[in-house]
Amino acid sequence: MSFMQIKDLNVHYPIRGGFFNTVVDHVYAVDGVTMEFEKGKTYGLVGESGSGKSTTGKAIIGLEKITSGSVIYEGEDVTNKRRNRNSSFNRDIQMIFQDSTSAMNPRKRIQDVLAEPIRNFMNLSPKEEKKRMIELLEIVGMSEEALLKYPHEFSGGQKQRLGIARAVACNPKMIIADEPVSALDLSVQAQVLNFMKDIQTEFGLSYLFISHDLGVVRHMCDHISIMYKGRFVEQGTQKDIYTNPQHVYTNRLLSAIPKIEPTTRAQRKEERRAVEIAYRADAEKYYDQDGKVYPLKDFSPTHKVAMMTSERGEN
Ligand SMILES: Nc1ncnc2c1ncn2[C@@H]1O[C@H](COP(=O)(O)OP(=O)(O)O)[C@@H](O)[C@H]1O
Ligand SMILES: [Mg+2]
Repeated sequence: MSFMQIKDLNVHYPIRGGFFNTVVDHVYAVDGVTMEFEKGKTYGLVGESGSGKSTTGKAIIGLEKITSGSVIYEGEDVTNKRRNRNSSFNRDIQMIFQDSTSAMNPRKRIQDVLAEPIRNFMNLSPKEEKKRMIELLEIVGMSEEALLKYPHEFSGGQKQRLGIARAVACNPKMIIADEPVSALDLSVQAQVLNFMKDIQTEFGLSYLFISHDLGVVRHMCDHISIMYKGRFVEQGTQKDIYTNPQHVYTNRLLSAIPKIEPTTRAQRKEERRAVEIAYRADAEKYYDQDGKVYPLKDFSPTHKVAMMTSERGEN
């Protein structure tokens, strides 16, 4: 059973213009997105830059106003209640960002950065608080000495680990990780992803893992949703997406993954060209006349695809 459901989520930003500065149009940043989350699982949210991934994450956690749709958490509609301090939702769902530097106040020592969520959500004595902070640093492979340092004294990978420590401070159920390793070197990426996996196993955490790169989420995710212009084009298990992709946009993202196998550049170029040709040839199968993707349809019990079916006009 899933503990959280996102139903038909929409986030539309008004565009103002004209002499009277009236609303002339909207950016459909998130345009009807539905997902559900189970305990201990990782969900990938993948799409190119500007497809609406961050807006989706922020809307779920309450940092972005939801135009319509709902967020149901443990059977309760929390769509408009998430700023309520007493709600367990605020404590149970945490977010980490690509740029942990800007998420930490540069004038605060790590002990104050880590103490913030603990003071907000837990009732601990100063001694217990310190103990908890040392525990958290241990979880992400760092020592007590970090407590007195400032954010700038750490490398990118260390800062990202500190961000994870802060996110897990109050035993959340789920972490929304928005491009958590995109700013890191490849070797450090693997290290941070491994920490995330270890923590997940230890605490039974769920992740919503946001990335523009299908290569990065491959070994992290149980389920993946592919996003394009605010909509999902395909949704399925890790296996569905990587071994049996159906939407041309998914194929495009897959062909963009750098390969480790020694294929020649010419071969890769040829592969990408083939995907590009298929993309153009079949465009109307995948996009309507406004360039929008169709609603998702069941392709298998675990796999949904946004494709025009042979019976025209059915949807
Ligand atoms: N505050 C805002 N006002 C207007 N448009 C916005 C705002 N925030 C994001 N957008 C637009 O919404 C779309 C989705 O943005 P975003 O969720 O950041 O995409 P992603 O995280 O996938 O790169 C983009 O077209 C972006 O320009
Ligand atoms: Mg983003």
